[in-house]
Amino acid sequence: MTATTDLPVPPATGAGTRAATGASAVLDPAFRIGPIDRRLFGSFVEHMGRCVYTGIYEPGHPSADADGFRTDVLDATTQMGVSLVRYPGGNFVSGYRWEDGVGPRESRPVRLDLAWRQIETNEFGLGEFMTWARRAGVEPMIAVNLGTRGVQEAIDLVEYANLPGGTRLSDLRREHGFAEPFGIKLWCLGNEMDGPWQIGHKTATEYGRLAAEAGKAMRRVDPSIELVACGSSHSKMPTFGEWESTVLEHAFDVVDFISMHAYYENPDGDVDSFLASSIDMDRFISRVVATADSVAARRRSDKRVNISFDEWNVWYQSRFVGEDNLPVEAVPRLIEDHYDVTDAVVVGSFLVTLLRHADRVSIGCQAQLVNVIAPIRSEPGGPSWKQPTWHPFALTARIAQGDVLRVEPVGPTVETTTYGTVPGVEVTATHDPATGDIGVFVVHRGRDTGMPLTLDLRGFAGPGAAERTGLAVAEHWVVADDDPSATNTAEEPERVVARQGSGTDFDGAVLTVPLDAVSFTALRLTTR
Ligand code: AHR
Repeated sequence: MTATTDLPVPPATGAGTRAATGASAVLDPAFRIGPIDRRLFGSFVEHMGRCVYTGIYEPGHPSADADGFRTDVLDATTQMGVSLVRYPGGNFVSGYRWEDGVGPRESRPVRLDLAWRQIETNEFGLGEFMTWARRAGVEPMIAVNLGTRGVQEAIDLVEYANLPGGTRLSDLRREHGFAEPFGIKLWCLGNEMDGPWQIGHKTATEYGRLAAEAGKAMRRVDPSIELVACGSSHSKMPTFGEWESTVLEHAFDVVDFISMHAYYENPDGDVDSFLASSIDMDRFISRVVATADSVAARRRSDKRVNISFDEWNVWYQSRFVGEDNLPVEAVPRLIEDHYDVTDAVVVGSFLVTLLRHADRVSIGCQAQLVNVIAPIRSEPGGPSWKQPTWHPFALTARIAQGDVLRVEPVGPTVETTTYGTVPGVEVTATHDPATGDIGVFVVHRGRDTGMPLTLDLRGFAGPGAAERTGLAVAEHWVVADDDPSATNTAEEPERVVARQGSGTDFDGAVLTVPLDAVSFTALRLTTR
């Protein structure tokens, strides 16, 4: 890893950056966006490629526990601070029969999964997932199949999972060894139903009606559940906007959240545009919020349908052969993208963006958890390791506590082909009223040189404290490298890690932080 760039920094010379004289922002506890919903730090486990099999689950692996769960992967998951995991798909769920994955293993059928053309043994199903989720300390978020199936199968699943007993399906769960109900609170009404690639793809009207009816019935089984309707599969979908509007016209009264999915990549080497991908994510969120609120306005309703951003990540989709071209295989190596430092900085910018929308984005799932476009990689029978993208997530999930503050940095800009002129830095901050701790999260997009960021914290000084806040820098972490294409491998698993930063200057009121070129920085300030 490189050493932290110390001030003063040289002026920018590169093509993408206009100037690098420094950026500044004011942090004030009075400017509060809202509390962080811990479910923002979620992930996603799909029956796809090697996410489940040889990912989280591999009986016989040297690290496997008595249930066949890889404890090395479990440890990396808990260290990462994952709060919630969505399961079992993804496109997979749209052809899935949940009953196949419960009960005695020897009676479970082997099926051909049509989403990814995989042989699914059903060795791992809902009960195994719930046991794994408890061990990982994560909240489950379960998707029902509204592709090939409908209302009946959805309510059957809620009955199996959440009723204590005394009905056929809740008693069946008990027979399967789970005396206590699973108590699954969060349910996705299908997956990406706007996508022509989806098994059982529907029009917005068809899906909106089905989601409303399935959701209504599921809630009669368990009134305490929360429901997520499918929004658009990405911001460029031709039906975007109209889809959300029509679906919510039908399902507004039933659902709590509308989903968003977004994946970004750098297919043609335009690094400046790639580093600015969160501009699209930011606009996408604002547009979905506006659309949901327009439905509320038409209904003269004060209800706010919030966002479940339940798939987001960097995904080099241009390298994927496409669902229709996949050979039938058992546990294939599917979309096992290998991430570098630049990808990690982009992931950091997505986390900053999600936090900046914490008033409306309640749930976030980085997709997926292991092997499949994932922050954690594992080899069958072999080691596991953390990709560079693991680090910004782990830092943010741990340090971001309490409320998100509104931060509006000013400073240099970067010219991009795709998004025009964009801010050179993205900043968000959190303030935990319980401890007084402040978290600061910064992405620097400039590629040519480092630059200083100056933060005015005088708003945290108590009355009569003469602008002294009593704060000190307790933690300073940087994800950056002299070589932005540096990565981690099984042989060199810690080539890229979060390293301790240095060179901050803080007089208790104004903090100056040196930012490396193409970097993600996380700080924790405390009075303790
Ligand atoms: O995460 C991979 C796939 O991307 C999911 O199955 C699907 O929902 C999305 O298109």
